[in-house]
Amino acid sequence: MTAQPGIFALGTSEHCYLELRLAPDADPAQLVASVAGHTESLSTTGGVNVVVGVRPELWPGLADSRPEDGTGMNTPVVGPDGFTMPATQRDVWIWVSGGSRTAVFDATAALTTALAQVATVESELDGWVYQQDRDLTGFVDGTENPSAFDAPEIVAPGGEGSVVLVQVWQHDSAGLAAMSIDAQEAMMGRTKADSVELAEEVMPPSAHVPRTTVTSVDGEELRILRRNTAYGTPSKHGTIFVGFSADRARLQLMLDRMAGAVDGVRDELTRVTTPLTGGYYYVPSLEGLASYAPIDDPED
Ligand code: HEM
Repeated sequence: MTAQPGIFALGTSEHCYLELRLAPDADPAQLVASVAGHTESLSTTGGVNVVVGVRPELWPGLADSRPEDGTGMNTPVVGPDGFTMPATQRDVWIWVSGGSRTAVFDATAALTTALAQVATVESELDGWVYQQDRDLTGFVDGTENPSAFDAPEIVAPGGEGSVVLVQVWQHDSAGLAAMSIDAQEAMMGRTKADSVELAEEVMPPSAHVPRTTVTSVDGEELRILRRNTAYGTPSKHGTIFVGFSADRARLQLMLDRMAGAVDGVRDELTRVTTPLTGGYYYVPSLEGLASYAPIDDPED
């Protein structure tokens, strides 16, 4: 089995994300077939990467296995102080990425047209890369990501399906700018200029890094692959959080810990950025997708 390669594509500076709702009488298999068929015809030079995810509840009955804990984000995450991460689950998520804005625009527009019979686009958002590897908070984002060698086995063991969490967060950049650099670093758990993790003695439990560092019962770190990008304009902007994982549970645990729902400690980062959307999608293997768009046999 092979994970969808776009999950790991590097050097992509332009992104577009779609969230779609299936038409009432449409069969999810029709939609998956349209996306898979379209993806098959992409050029290898100057083309784009397409990753597709499906609401986990819609995948059973289609080909491929899925993580047993796969369900959409059907309820919001609420902390003890009322802080809320909204659940805005849709049926399908499509991520188009590439090196050229024109190519990403054209491919996404063509996909949207191809899918018009079976689904309605409910959300579309462009993502871009800020200062090579920084989030719009100014911090380096992705430092603790697994390497390109390790990532496939971490997020899609055996090449099987993966789970992605997608959330749009809007930053309060004026609020952040009003904080000293020391306070910002204590909020994140890393230095701002060069992304060095703070020493254990000075790391606050409410910093983002300890909130999102989670382990299994036998102490093994449960890792994910984050492919976040920046979105928006100078007055309204933030992070498109895109986190791939072998299971949903570790992502949900990170969200619960960020909201303070586990131990009452809320992530300081959530005081300067607000989640606007949230959904989980099952990201099937290539074989799972291809079974809906049989590849032409050249000998036929
Ligand atoms: C506005 C939203 C977010 C921003 C701006 C943000 C930014 C960052 C930054 C700057 C780091 C430190 C550098 C790095 O290792 O990449 C980090 C680490 C991390 N974040 Fe986030 N993050 C956000 C939301 C989330 C969410 C929602 C999750 C999980 C569901 C998450 C999971 C993680 C993980 C697992 C790490 C690595 C922790 C470690 O092992 O050191 N983040 N994030």
